[in-house]
Amino acid sequence: MRPPLALLLLLRLAPPVAAAAAEAPVSARRSLVWGPGLRAAVVLPVRYFYLQAVSAQGQNLTRSPPGQTVFKVVVKPLSSKEVARIHVPAPLDRNDGTFLVRYRMYDTVNKGLKIDVLYGDEHVAQSPYILKGPVYHEYCECPEEDPQAWQEALSCPTWEPQIEEDFASFPTINLQQMLSEVPKRFGDERGAIVHYTILNNHIYRRSLGKYTDFKMFSDEILLSLARKVRLPDLEFYINLGDWPLEHRKINETPSPVPVISWCGSLDSRDVILPTYDVTHSTLEAMRGVTNDLLSIQGNTGPSWINKTEKAFFRGRDSREERLQLVQLSQENPQLLDAGITGYFFFQEKEKELGKAKLMGFFDFFKYKYQVNVDGTVAAYRFPYLMLGDSLVLKQDSPYYEHFYTTLRPWKHYVPVNRNLSDLLEKVKWAKENDEEAKKIAKEGQLAARDLLQPHRLYCYYYRALQQYAERQSSKPELRDGMERVPQPDDTSTCQCHRKGPLKEEL
Ligand SMILES: *[C@@H]1O[C@H](CO)[C@@H](O)[C@H](O)[C@H]1NC(C)=O
Ligand SMILES: *[C@@H]1O[C@H](CO)[C@@H](O)[C@H](O)[C@H]1NC(C)=O
Ligand SMILES: *[C@@H]1O[C@H](CO)[C@@H](O)[C@H](O)[C@H]1NC(C)=O
Repeated sequence: MRPPLALLLLLRLAPPVAAAAAEAPVSARRSLVWGPGLRAAVVLPVRYFYLQAVSAQGQNLTRSPPGQTVFKVVVKPLSSKEVARIHVPAPLDRNDGTFLVRYRMYDTVNKGLKIDVLYGDEHVAQSPYILKGPVYHEYCECPEEDPQAWQEALSCPTWEPQIEEDFASFPTINLQQMLSEVPKRFGDERGAIVHYTILNNHIYRRSLGKYTDFKMFSDEILLSLARKVRLPDLEFYINLGDWPLEHRKINETPSPVPVISWCGSLDSRDVILPTYDVTHSTLEAMRGVTNDLLSIQGNTGPSWINKTEKAFFRGRDSREERLQLVQLSQENPQLLDAGITGYFFFQEKEKELGKAKLMGFFDFFKYKYQVNVDGTVAAYRFPYLMLGDSLVLKQDSPYYEHFYTTLRPWKHYVPVNRNLSDLLEKVKWAKENDEEAKKIAKEGQLAARDLLQPHRLYCYYYRALQQYAERQSSKPELRDGMERVPQPDDTSTCQCHRKGPLKEEL
C-alpha cells in the first residue's frame, strides 16, 4: 500500500534541517555535556568543555554522527547590557562520538555567561548553561585568596605522583644553602638559571648567566597563576636549559638542592614542572599557537583503518638515534618513513641522509605508528603524539616530563630499545596485531586526555610551588639585583570582586 500523496508531499517539503535531525541517531537531550568550561570559577586562558553524542536509545556514539547536522555553541554575556569579546570556534570533532568545545574570553563579564549548546536547533542536555558572574577573563588580575577553594574549583587531584616523588628527596629546603651554592655551581656565564622570589603574590627575579631568554616562559605562567590564585611566598631557582642539573645523590654531603627544571632524568634530583612547550601552548592557544593540547584533539587525521600502516618520524638531528632512524627507513621503506628536517649537530650527515620537507604536525597522524625518539632531552612532542589516535612507539629513555610516571609500556604505548634495535620488530608486531595496537593507542589517548587537560597544568604548578613553599626553612627574601616582573598590560579593564586577604599580613 502506498502512503497518501499528501503525506509524501509533506515529507518532501519538510525543511532539510528537520529532516536531517529526524534521521540522525543523535538525541540532543540525552547527549552529555561536562567539563571545567561550564564553571565560572575555573579561570583559564581558553575555557573548554566536552560533548558526548548519545543516541535516542541511550547509547554513546563512537564515531562522528552521520549527516549534516552539527553541534553548535553560542557563548554570550547573561545580561544584554554587558558587552564582551568571546571567541568561540566550532567544536572540535574528536572522531569518536565526542567533541571538544573551546572559548576564549577577552573581557570579564560581571553578571554572568549564557552558553547555548545546540544540535541542529535543539538544546543539548541541560542547555542553556548559566555561569553566574563574575566570570573573569585570563588577564583579569583577581587572585582567589583561598588556595584550597581554588584547587577545589579546578577539581585538582590531591596527589600528583611525580611531585610526591620529586619532593621526597627534600624534606626541608635550606634557602641559605641554595643562595650560597646555586649561583656558584650552576650560574656561570653559560648558565641558564633564573632566581625568583614571590612575595605577597608579586613576582621578582634576577638572571644568572647569559642563556636566560626562556624566562619569558617561566614569567608568563607565574604571572598567569598569580592572577588566579594567591601564591605562597617562595624563593627558588629555575633552570631554563635543556638538561636537569642536580646530580648529587640523596645521602651525599653536601646534599642535593632542589633546582627546578622542565625535564627530569633518572640520574638527577631536579624538581620538574610541565615543560615550557606545553605551558606556553596552553597560555597562547587560539592566539599565536596552532598546535596545543586542545587543538590537537580535533586534528588526528584519518580513522584508524584509513591510516598508512607505517611508523613515522620527522624532526631535527638533535640525537644520533634520529639519524639511525633515517638509515633504517631507507632500508625498510615499507615499515618506516623517517626524515630529518633540519641539521645542526650532525651537519656532515646531510649529504648521506638527505633533508626531509617540513610537515605540519597534524599531518603526522596520517600514519598509524608514531616514533618518539629523544631530542637533546625528552622529546617535547610526546604529549601531542599521545593525544593523537596513532600508536606511539616510545624509545626507552632516562628523561621524563611531569606526566610520564602514570603511563605504562604496553598499556599506553609500545616501548622500543634505546638503541632502536627492536624498532622494526615492534612495527611488524603492530601490523600483525592490529586490534591490540589499536587498543593501546586508544588507552594512551584516553590517559593523555585526562592527564594533559590544561586546568591540570595549573593544578600541577600550584601544587609543586606549594610543596616547595612548605619545606622552606627560612623566609624568602628579595635579593640584590632582583626586579619586579609586571603583569602584562591588558586593554580590557575588569573589576575584581573577590574578598581581600583572609589573614593579616605578617
Ligand atoms: C558514555 O560516555 C560518557 C562520556 O564519555 C562516559 O562517562 C560513559 O561512561 C559512557 N557510557 C557508556 C555506557 O559507555
Ligand atoms: C576511509 O576512507 C574512505 C575513502 O576516503 C571513506 O569512504 C571511509 O568512510 C573511511 N573510513 C572511515 C572509517 O573513516
Ligand atoms: C641494544 O639494546 C638492547 C637492550 O638494551 C641490548 O640487549 C642490545 O645488545 C643492544 N644492541 C646493540 C647492537 O647494541
